[in-house]
Amino acid sequence: MRGLPASWYLDPDRAPFEDSAIFAPSWQFVCHVSDLPASGTAVRFDCGGRSAVVLRTKAGGLQGFRNVCRHRGARLVEGDAHTGLAFCIDGRLRCPYHGWTYDEAGALVSIPAGQHFDEFDADAHALHPLHVAQWRGLVFAAFQAPLQAVEQVLDAAAGTWPDLTSMRRVIEPRATPCAADWKLACEHTLDTAHVDIARPALKPRLFAPLVFEPGGGDVLRATAEVATGALGDTWSSRMYRQLLRDRQPTPARADYVYLWPNLLLQLAPDGLSILQVLPGATGHSTLRELRYAAPDASRAMRLLRYTHQRVRRQAFAADARTLVRVQQGMAMLGADEAGPIATGEVGLRWFAEHCRARLPAPASSTPAIGGRKRRRTTPAAGA
Ligand code: FES
Repeated sequence: MRGLPASWYLDPDRAPFEDSAIFAPSWQFVCHVSDLPASGTAVRFDCGGRSAVVLRTKAGGLQGFRNVCRHRGARLVEGDAHTGLAFCIDGRLRCPYHGWTYDEAGALVSIPAGQHFDEFDADAHALHPLHVAQWRGLVFAAFQAPLQAVEQVLDAAAGTWPDLTSMRRVIEPRATPCAADWKLACEHTLDTAHVDIARPALKPRLFAPLVFEPGGGDVLRATAEVATGALGDTWSSRMYRQLLRDRQPTPARADYVYLWPNLLLQLAPDGLSILQVLPGATGHSTLRELRYAAPDASRAMRLLRYTHQRVRRQAFAADARTLVRVQQGMAMLGADEAGPIATGEVGLRWFAEHCRARLPAPASSTPAIGGRKRRRTTPAAGA
């Protein structure tokens, strides 16, 4: 099996197809339920050029809408687009442009005095609702109807995971710009061969390379045992592994779930780490990182989380550098060139198969010129 053609990482014409065929109907992680602690709190979440607002209602439920006013299209809610910081809107969404106000169900409930419209129908100007769902404390949203319920997808792969509702943030969410296509960044998280080659000199390791389980529809499961000492070890990585050994006699391990197309969940003994790759302009993406954990203020646990986060921070920096090298290299390949994927690379094969099944095939085989040739593509039916 071969990977994706180089042009798929470089062609700006592909973004609309990827957005409509992949991102719009996919479940996207928005936040943890604890990030919406009370009625009237809300988060903004942006993905693929779309913006969403998800809020906690007075009855304790969750509602999600496209973050756009039905009057002249102004964005309703500001706030950070990727880190999802919560803020109070008091159960009402008031557009900052001309003051149209919507209630928590999305209904248009007031227009400032002095604005008159011919044959106006307020019901026809309610906010566009999103699909919002919760799985064990994790909040997801989809801009278009997904193929499966999120519970159905995640229960199949992570049915043995505990309820995560009691968890709380242990770091502030981080959004790291990355000068690489979102597909490259996703593939990097699924690539196991580079771990023993590229990483030792770049950063320490806490866990061994992921061992993926074959199969799975839109979700892939993996495990990894805590690593043994390796080149590149630091005080943090050694301390983390020692603390894990002190906690339990059996080798500690982390469980992973990769939810198509762009979400990696890691459940380790010290908490849940979330990595979400968000698409950006051609050749760019954003790495969104969040961490949650069950309340445990013991010194050992605080040290475990601290060292884990230190190593992850180094890992993010090293991964971003590696991805830039690969993105730049792709631009020097022929448009149709695609390297082989090793037989043991279960995750990479799964990702490539999913991309090919959902994205339009290239329309021509014009080679790259000077590494910069952009090839137009033809949308597949229904894309
Ligand atoms: S654009 Fe929102 S009130 Fe005019």
